[in-house]
Amino acid sequence: MARKVIVDCDPGIDDALALCIALFDPRLEVLAVTAVGGNTSPERATLNVQTIIGQLDPKRWPRVGAASEPDGGLPVDGRYLCGVDGLGGIEFAVAERQHLLPSEKVICDQVRAAPHQVTIVALGPLTNIARAFARDPELPTLVDRVVMMGGTVSGPGNITPAAEFNIYCDPVSARAVFRAHCTKTLVPLDVTNRAVLSYDLFNRLPEENTRIGYFVRQVLPPAFRAHRQNLGLEGIHVHDTVALMSVIHPDLFTTREMAGDVETQGDLTMGMTVFDRRRVPSWRRNMEVAVEMRTEEVVDAIIGDLATAAEYAGPRLADL
Ligand code: RIB
Ligand code: CA
Repeated sequence: MARKVIVDCDPGIDDALALCIALFDPRLEVLAVTAVGGNTSPERATLNVQTIIGQLDPKRWPRVGAASEPDGGLPVDGRYLCGVDGLGGIEFAVAERQHLLPSEKVICDQVRAAPHQVTIVALGPLTNIARAFARDPELPTLVDRVVMMGGTVSGPGNITPAAEFNIYCDPVSARAVFRAHCTKTLVPLDVTNRAVLSYDLFNRLPEENTRIGYFVRQVLPPAFRAHRQNLGLEGIHVHDTVALMSVIHPDLFTTREMAGDVETQGDLTMGMTVFDRRRVPSWRRNMEVAVEMRTEEVVDAIIGDLATAAEYAGPRLADL
């Protein structure tokens, strides 16, 4: 039985790579892809979700949720790695649909329609999840699990010395989700930073004449350029794709029950994730945190799952 998932994301090139896999993997049933602002504006994230789905054209199109500004607006965006438009500046054709429902309503409706069966895979700021929980206070008890890419346990942040990008974009929502009474898994930078896709990736991608192969060969080169220019990295991080691997291949990850919360104040610490790691912790443990992963096998799994997705997606049609 395929696992029912909602992918909440802010595409974002690593979000897009995760969607290339999720939309075709036979182990997943993607009920909805809900957009959230982060790497790019809410409007652009909503358009990017539709662009990605249109370019990949899965057999069963998921519902799409429209992003909206977090309370207080977005403090930053991800242009330094994804470009202003979020997808590396690649001009894809897109059939933009009007009158999309808000992401938080799509999440509420889909979870209510399949109580205790849906995993929410949160690959961007947690605005939509928090809003869904506020809209329907019973929802946390009806979600099977929330898997979040975000935060750090002991390593540095990436958007500030203290904070990881997704949490920093909307720390108030992140705190609300961290404190919600639902089953949670956090995949933090401490783990996702260890996977670096190097240039030899291009020799291992699906052929360009496949739909998946063509799409990733469009969006990945700008990511490599940006990582080299802005991080001095000869390769790319794919934080969200690693987080998706923890859903598809949980055996490649080691998790630990921890007590975590989010700093919502502070010039220097805004968005920092804090865990009670004292010898005798007093905070209630509220999530599983990925603390180890078999990095090489995770990278191989990403390559293998892209190949599987390419087989399911089939050849590229020239008119796309
Ligand atoms: O810190 C990494 C996260 O921020 C990823 O989800 C990336 O897409 C950006 O949203
Ligand atoms: Ca993301």
